Amino acid sequence: MKNQNNISPRQLSKNEKIPYNLLLLADETMEAIEKYIFNSDLFVVEQEAEVIAVYALYVINQEEIEIKNIAVSEAHQGQGIGKLLLQDATNKARDRGFKTLLIGTPDCAVKQLSIYQKAGFEIFDVKKRFFIENYPEPIFENGVQLQDMVMLRKFLQ
Ligand code: COA
Repeated sequence: MKNQNNISPRQLSKNEKIPYNLLLLADETMEAIEKYIFNSDLFVVEQEAEVIAVYALYVINQEEIEIKNIAVSEAHQGQGIGKLLLQDATNKARDRGFKTLLIGTPDCAVKQLSIYQKAGFEIFDVKKRFFIENYPEPIFENGVQLQDMVMLRKFLQ
């Protein structure tokens, strides 16, 4: 999917199948995903009836909303779809009157951090030991054990 101009993520209705295969690219366990997914709004991008990208928006309070999960299928990464999802989430959060959009990522996730910072997010907090305390098994990425979650935010108004 090289031309991203006419991609418009659509909201998944509650009776549709949740694309766990994609959500698991961004979050290690089903148990962790199920802590937020049933209370999130899910938005998907489809190509020929296949879901190729997803993000989940979770309301924290009247002012803050968080992207709890964002994933693009491996075959479609690096083509601008992630960037488009971040812009779409920003627009939806702003249209719904929220003041701040949040997103978290492991402290060692250099690629994700740079993608979010390029999309206008700034680091404002670190949840120390998040990946140790919230997951049953140690998680390793690129040989590094995940420990802390970096929280980023984008002001919308
Ligand atoms: N390293 C560094 N920068 C990269 C990159 C890489 N491997 N891949 C893409 N980028 C840059 C792009 O050049 C682009 O920058 P630009 O705006 O200056 O052109 C920007 O990041 C966005 O790229 P895009 O193609 O829109 O990203 P994507 O469609 O691959 O989506 C993810 C990004 C993270 C959602 C996607 O890679 C993914 O699903 N990864 C697995 C799940 C995951 O890690 N989710 C996030 C959990 S915190």
